[in-house]
Amino acid sequence: MEQLQTRIFGRKILYYDEVESTNTLAHAMVLEGAEEGTLVIAEHQTTGRGRMGRKWHSPKGKGLWMSLVLKPQITLQFAPQLTLLVAVALCRSIRKLTSLQVGIKWPNDLLIEGKKISGILLESSADEEKLQHVIAGIGISVNLDLDDFPEELRSVATSLSIEAAQQIDRTQLLCQFLLELETLYELYHEQGFAPVKLLWEALNVSLGCTVRSQGPQGVIEATAEGIDDAGALVVRLADGSLTKWYSSNVEFGSR
Ligand code: BTN
Repeated sequence: MEQLQTRIFGRKILYYDEVESTNTLAHAMVLEGAEEGTLVIAEHQTTGRGRMGRKWHSPKGKGLWMSLVLKPQITLQFAPQLTLLVAVALCRSIRKLTSLQVGIKWPNDLLIEGKKISGILLESSADEEKLQHVIAGIGISVNLDLDDFPEELRSVATSLSIEAAQQIDRTQLLCQFLLELETLYELYHEQGFAPVKLLWEALNVSLGCTVRSQGPQGVIEATAEGIDDAGALVVRLADGSLTKWYSSNVEFGSR
């Protein structure tokens, strides 16, 4: 790809017409020796997966369904920081190519006016605390029309082309995203999570929102106040105390 300006990310691309899931394939490729930066991308996924066992809808030729192999120099406990890093890179690349006001909902959904346009699924393989590799699975609904979405998603999901009222060049977006991601990833290894956290906070749309989570004694309601240095959500409970939520099974309400 002529437009690709990265040193490592996407320099090796494994491109498929149809796969079950690019994440599954990327894990298998690592076992066969795939290096950091290898990108697995497909036009169509038959069983694309999202967080919490959800299915990820991946119609043919309409999106970017891809998985990047990462081998970060960090321990397992810091892996959640990478989710936020990928979300920042994605948000910045979309904002650079379109005038769309994309925001990040903790931990890793990209939203336009409350509707989801992208999701990120990081899967890691670790030996005790030592991280072996991470597969960053990214799905971007680029050129889907409303009727490409299953009916139950039409009120909560959207695509870049719907929002921009024009088709978006997938190759251009891919190249911009890989460049943003590689630049941020290098910064993260040089300077740690602090600069990524600042960028995430500037792009987030979830702080200040009411949040709910299922606790052992029923649903707990709180207000999202920030993120900590490991990428967990810091919330204020009804009694005024602060606590951290790590699970992504958090439901967001209004601000
Ligand atoms: C989510 O929001 O729940 C995460 C969705 C992640 C979807 C992407 S599409 C490419 C990669 N392969 C998968 O099977 N899932 C991720």
